[in-house]
Amino acid sequence: MRVTVLTGGATAERAVAFASASQIVSALRSRKHDVHVVDLAGGVLDVRAERELLGSAVGAVPPDVDELAERQRRMLSEELAELPAVREAEVLWLAVHGGALEGGTLQAVLDVLGIPYTGSGPLASALAMDKDLSKRLFRSTGVPVPAWFMAPVTAEDVSTALGWPMIVKPSKQGSSVGLTLVRKAQDLDNAVKLAKRYDDEVMAEQFIPGRELTVGVLGEVPLPVGEIVPKHELFDYVTKYTPGMSEETFPAKIDTLLARQLQEYAVMAHRALKLSGYSRIDFRVSPEGDIFCLEANSLPGMTRTSLFPQAAQAAGIHFPELCERIASLARNNRTGKGG
Ligand SMILES: Nc1ncnc2c1ncn2[C@@H]1O[C@H](COP(=O)(O)OP(=O)(O)O)[C@@H](O)[C@H]1O
Ligand SMILES: [Mg+2]
Repeated sequence: MRVTVLTGGATAERAVAFASASQIVSALRSRKHDVHVVDLAGGVLDVRAERELLGSAVGAVPPDVDELAERQRRMLSEELAELPAVREAEVLWLAVHGGALEGGTLQAVLDVLGIPYTGSGPLASALAMDKDLSKRLFRSTGVPVPAWFMAPVTAEDVSTALGWPMIVKPSKQGSSVGLTLVRKAQDLDNAVKLAKRYDDEVMAEQFIPGRELTVGVLGEVPLPVGEIVPKHELFDYVTKYTPGMSEETFPAKIDTLLARQLQEYAVMAHRALKLSGYSRIDFRVSPEGDIFCLEANSLPGMTRTSLFPQAAQAAGIHFPELCERIASLARNNRTGKGG
């Protein structure tokens, strides 16, 4: 297959995107596919740029991407359509995370170009990016979610509706950026201010103690459940991208019934948002055994050690085969994204 990996861009998760891209590129090449790479805030990467950008580790803080924003705007509005690497690709492999690139804008541009791309279409991508709308759809299809309300957030409302501690997070952001576990009323305003830096819409959410579980969906089929035990209290940015900062078990050592229930909810959540190709659904399970769905990831991390590839591995699907299957799902599903 002629595959072009689209990566980078001007999102807070630029570095994470390169980390995914680097592994996807070598995996696809190991299967003899003809692979090119495009930085959505740069252009086609030649061999040297590929080595430099894709080889660097994800830092402990998200990069400053303001200056790249203009470059990305020009790429999406003008240059992308002209690039031979894009026009001649059979499939565009989206190794991007965050912002407009994960949230439907890029997907809409690619629909206009008429080139198949991995993952979900514009509508589903936008829904998955918006935690508020996602949770409304989950709830309406019977997938349980933590209690929540949107800002403005007052301490009184928190005490009545959620209790303490509680979570404040931007509605449309990822990688735990801008998220705070708030223990007392005095810390509430600062948490809201921090979240507002990333999104005008801020969510106040019930804190669910207990275990963190995640379920990948490939095609329409759930993968084995995984458990994450972060060394920090939350699965935050540092824990997510520093090797050794969390312990991940696939398949999770949980009761078969609980695993089946989680897998069922994951597929329900995937369908509720009309996701396609693949996705990863995040859950918390309280000490009482109650399941709560936190969110859906329409373009989950795809380094070899990321959660989704680990889930696939537990199902006997090795990383190169996984990358290829996701590409094939995209090629065979040209009309299946609601477009
Ligand atoms: N309501 C909650 N209760 C407990 N932990 C939470 C809650 N919301 C978020 N977290 C923690 O923060 C992490 C990131 O939150 P999540 O909603 O998945 O956003 P994202 O991954 O898009 O940043 C979760 O994996 C979990 O560890
Ligand atoms: Mg998450």
